[in-house]
Amino acid sequence: MAYRKCLSPARSILFSFLLTFPLALGNAQLTAPPAKPTGPWMDQALSPDQRAALVLGQLTLEEKISLVHGAGWDALVGGPEALPPRSVGGAGFVPGIRRLGIPDLQIVDASVGVARGAVFGRYSTALPSCVAEAASWDLRVAREYGALIGSELRAQGYNMSLGGGVNLTREPRNGRTFEYKGEDPILAGRLAAAEMKALQEQGVIGHMKHYALNDQENGRSYVNVKLGKRAMRETDLLAFEIGIKESGIGAIMCSYNLVDGVYACENRYLLNDVLKKQWGFRGFVVSDWGGTHSTVQAANAGLDMEMPADAYFGPALQKAIERGEVPAARLDDMVHRILRSEFAAGLFDKPPERRAPDIFRGLQVAQHVAEQGAVLLKNGSARLPLSTALRSIAVIGSHADVAVLSGGGSSQVDPPGGNAVPQEAGSQPSMFGPAVWQPSSPLQAIRAKAPGAKVVYDSGADPAVAAKLAKASEAAIVFVNQPASEDRDLASLALPGNQDALIAAVAAANPRTVVVLETGGPVVMPWIGQAGAVLEAWYPGIRGGEAIANILFGTVNPSAKLPLSFPRSEADLPRPKLAVQPPPASEADMAPLFPGAAFKVNVRQFDLAYDEGLKVGYKWYQAEDKQPLFPFGFGLSYTSYAYSDLNVAAGTTPSVAFRVKNTGPRAGAEVAQVYVTLPAAAGEPFRRLVGWEKVELAPGETKAITLALDPLYLSIFNPDKDAWELVPGSYTVYAGGSSRDLPLRGALEIPGAR
Ligand code: BGC
Repeated sequence: MAYRKCLSPARSILFSFLLTFPLALGNAQLTAPPAKPTGPWMDQALSPDQRAALVLGQLTLEEKISLVHGAGWDALVGGPEALPPRSVGGAGFVPGIRRLGIPDLQIVDASVGVARGAVFGRYSTALPSCVAEAASWDLRVAREYGALIGSELRAQGYNMSLGGGVNLTREPRNGRTFEYKGEDPILAGRLAAAEMKALQEQGVIGHMKHYALNDQENGRSYVNVKLGKRAMRETDLLAFEIGIKESGIGAIMCSYNLVDGVYACENRYLLNDVLKKQWGFRGFVVSDWGGTHSTVQAANAGLDMEMPADAYFGPALQKAIERGEVPAARLDDMVHRILRSEFAAGLFDKPPERRAPDIFRGLQVAQHVAEQGAVLLKNGSARLPLSTALRSIAVIGSHADVAVLSGGGSSQVDPPGGNAVPQEAGSQPSMFGPAVWQPSSPLQAIRAKAPGAKVVYDSGADPAVAAKLAKASEAAIVFVNQPASEDRDLASLALPGNQDALIAAVAAANPRTVVVLETGGPVVMPWIGQAGAVLEAWYPGIRGGEAIANILFGTVNPSAKLPLSFPRSEADLPRPKLAVQPPPASEADMAPLFPGAAFKVNVRQFDLAYDEGLKVGYKWYQAEDKQPLFPFGFGLSYTSYAYSDLNVAAGTTPSVAFRVKNTGPRAGAEVAQVYVTLPAAAGEPFRRLVGWEKVELAPGETKAITLALDPLYLSIFNPDKDAWELVPGSYTVYAGGSSRDLPLRGALEIPGAR
């Protein structure tokens, strides 16, 4: 540990990789690929459906059953020794059928990079959280993110990812906010599609989760979500609809919770009616780990694969088929869908090739995403960017001397060399253990930016000591954090421990105080009036320190915008108090995951009514006339922009044109946003985001932007007709730099009978 601390982050990564690579090679030898498959289905001129049908025709009943469930828990819990033969480790493994060349499905969590590699001796890039990716509002960044994960998956022998979370930020205390893409369905859906498309292009199956309405963690396996069909379709389900349609994704994970009284993984409305029939999804539905609760109901409702284990889709499914309770054609459909996704993503034609990862490419992408995703929330008396000629800088708090925080849970990407802050006191415990820190040192990166300055670190443990240091320095940078993890919601949006007091004390001692937040989502800021500047860096990944320093010193001009609202207080949320408290004992949460197993805890289902309905995030604040602390779409830059010349054109696909000018002294990139309000008859008296574009502008430069408005984004869902509907009437169109700063306004008429 002591030795690792002396190394630079890049060296430390290389060092730990060199230590572990021999083990990685050892694994590779155990998993030598089968001989190249042969058979008429290897004709690449045929479509994935044709190829899948040819393979399906060769399979026995037992073989079909073997493809619709797999292993997983052992590998997760037991480590390398517990792996089934040929598994490379990870969350799941479905053995293929060698005589036909059907590949093994090697599945691993990959929301923010390839997860949990350390136990298998592997290095993967810890990217910034998905919420940072979303804050870039940049489809190119999403593609970069997906392509990197896809290539590292292949390099580690995996051919299917578990990532692509798009549950909306309906409850900002959700412990997995960092794994998702914010509160707007169009933003989240489009970014997920771009990411997954790029990931699949690497030759692995892409995946989205958790379908549907798994919008918080407490009680996730027993809450029964209540939300009307219209609200469901226009919020969370719309993110999936866009994500699936725009990416051609291979798999969807159904969630743990119930929706309208039925578990998501056996919910006919969600799976058969909406996903498969209405959206035309041609991939397969895999259960969240332990989220299957029945054989006949789940199979007939549209679940295609139980993971992990075979409690329901093993011998029990075979019996149900033999008895005619599940039609044989349904099993064929499950297998066809799985094979089709394997063909479509290239699994038969281009098996993964284990090789050393391109570490430096990974570091580059991680840093770029962090720089594009960090949101500058305030820039007052601190006058960012900081001058490189400063003579003294105090760096305070949050282990900023050695590390940056990451989000916890199944998505955890192991830090090279181990947790950079082991046994973190006060970290939020969850079933996944203490908070994990990535070895990227903001302190070192700040020192590199201002080589002439005396840069002194203080842990922040005693606010009075930190304030003394801040007073004696020209500028103070206070790092604060809020750990969050899967399996547990945040008890509150307040920064834990003494961090609010720390900021207040430091800011009182030095008005030139910059606060850097490392959080998974919004926090409340009782000290906001005192802080000179605030940068939201999220969980910034393996190059977080370098990215933060680049922004603080102006090497990078911040351009990110919030993909979710920051409330002034929890009293302003739709549910001021968390609707579901953590279970009294962890067994209570685990029991439903292990049906019939050792746990004897009775878990009652719990109705969770999402009464805010359609009004998720910024729509809630607008409809309720509440002022957020920082609104959706907001983010500052070191330059300024002006909007002009709005023109709205009606038509089958209406469009909006306007101009954006960089009116300040620096080059920058602006996320220009377009919102609309619908005619009164639609019953939605609040704006919704319908488009955006990120434009790069030199000082003084003006660019014209034209955005086509997808009619789906303008529509409402009519539950009586079970269809989307474009309401005729007058729409108001707005353009500007945030959901609350929309200087341009125009009208759009949609004629009747469309
Ligand atoms: C999580 C999923 C994850 C799976 C496998 C579950 O507990 O909810 O997001 O993909 O575990 O690790």
